[in-house]
Amino acid sequence: MNSLVRDMMTAGAVTVEASTLVGRAGPRRENERMHPRDLPHVARAIVAPGKGILAADESSGTIEKRFRSIEVESTEEHRRAYRELLLTTDGAGEFISGVILFDETIRQRAADGVPFPEVLDRQGIIPGIKVDKGTTAMPGFPGEKITEGLDGLRGRLNEYRDLGARFTKWRAVIAIGDDIPTRTCVDANAEALARFAALSQEGGLVPIVEPEVLMDGTHTIQRCHDVTADTLGAVFAALRSHRVRLDGTLLKPNMVLSGKDCPEQAGVQQVAEATIRCLRDSVPASVPGIVFLSGGQTDEAATAHLDAMNRLGPQPWQLSFSYGRALQAPALKAWKGEAANGPAAQRAFLHRARLNGAARFGRYSQEMETLGP
Ligand code: 13P
Repeated sequence: MNSLVRDMMTAGAVTVEASTLVGRAGPRRENERMHPRDLPHVARAIVAPGKGILAADESSGTIEKRFRSIEVESTEEHRRAYRELLLTTDGAGEFISGVILFDETIRQRAADGVPFPEVLDRQGIIPGIKVDKGTTAMPGFPGEKITEGLDGLRGRLNEYRDLGARFTKWRAVIAIGDDIPTRTCVDANAEALARFAALSQEGGLVPIVEPEVLMDGTHTIQRCHDVTADTLGAVFAALRSHRVRLDGTLLKPNMVLSGKDCPEQAGVQQVAEATIRCLRDSVPASVPGIVFLSGGQTDEAATAHLDAMNRLGPQPWQLSFSYGRALQAPALKAWKGEAANGPAAQRAFLHRARLNGAARFGRYSQEMETLGP
């Protein structure tokens, strides 16, 4: 039994079958269905100390963009090979508790025929799945977006659970501009997030609720703080109204940052303090963990910010990561689409995972960067 499962089984009074907690590929028998009371156990395992999430759920369009940056064509085999490299990295389970997969990826297999959810299971990593269908322009609200994917979601959740997923993610996007975000956009996205979370819990899956306030723009850190606080307020009001269990839910927010094009850029300490202040005012203590997105920050900045927040002392929730770009950028660069570069890419990924694992304890330092993988 891996330590992750052992932690979960000793974490609460409810005894649960290990195999019902960590992902398992293949058809689910009815008596294996996770009872909603198990959701808090899974949620706590995902934010176990020293560990965080790898977001490897890039949609077809996004992965194509990432591959273009290394001049690799986005074929199904390239996508599979790249994801296999990440998921099979030896030792990843020490720093990675969960991986968010994309619809195509959860159905794929490693070269030796083992389905990806089972590959993760063997690493002691919990498989998760992105279930939204992306964002679209909100009619009548120029510059604002709404996330799609609620229609038919109940059925898709059951299928994903059969494929081995134990948690889900839905991303809403809030842009900052002259007259945006509007109340209507924030509330519509909060409502969709809450409906997604309620459906996930009904299906025995821990929802990761992701309202991302974008860093694009010239706005100040104060404006990012205010918009983030307002968004989180709307999200938690909607979650409560939809009777979502907060102890079986994780929040994936942006950090409170200066806009990317703001002439005055807040430093690491200021970002950490503003983010914690905002979250303490907005996030109920019953939420087991906050797993930040990196959202276009450099990999080093994302790690430094998380580290600085964890140095501010104990908070009501675990402060962890759910990084896409900030965990994958060096690995992608090392890989370049060549199988021969696989080991170097895995070393780069593991190094980034280890540094973020250290940031979970507030034990990261700049010198650790230069030690290399
Ligand atoms: P980034 O860390 O690259 O923002 O990706 C996280 C994610 O899952 C966005 O939905």
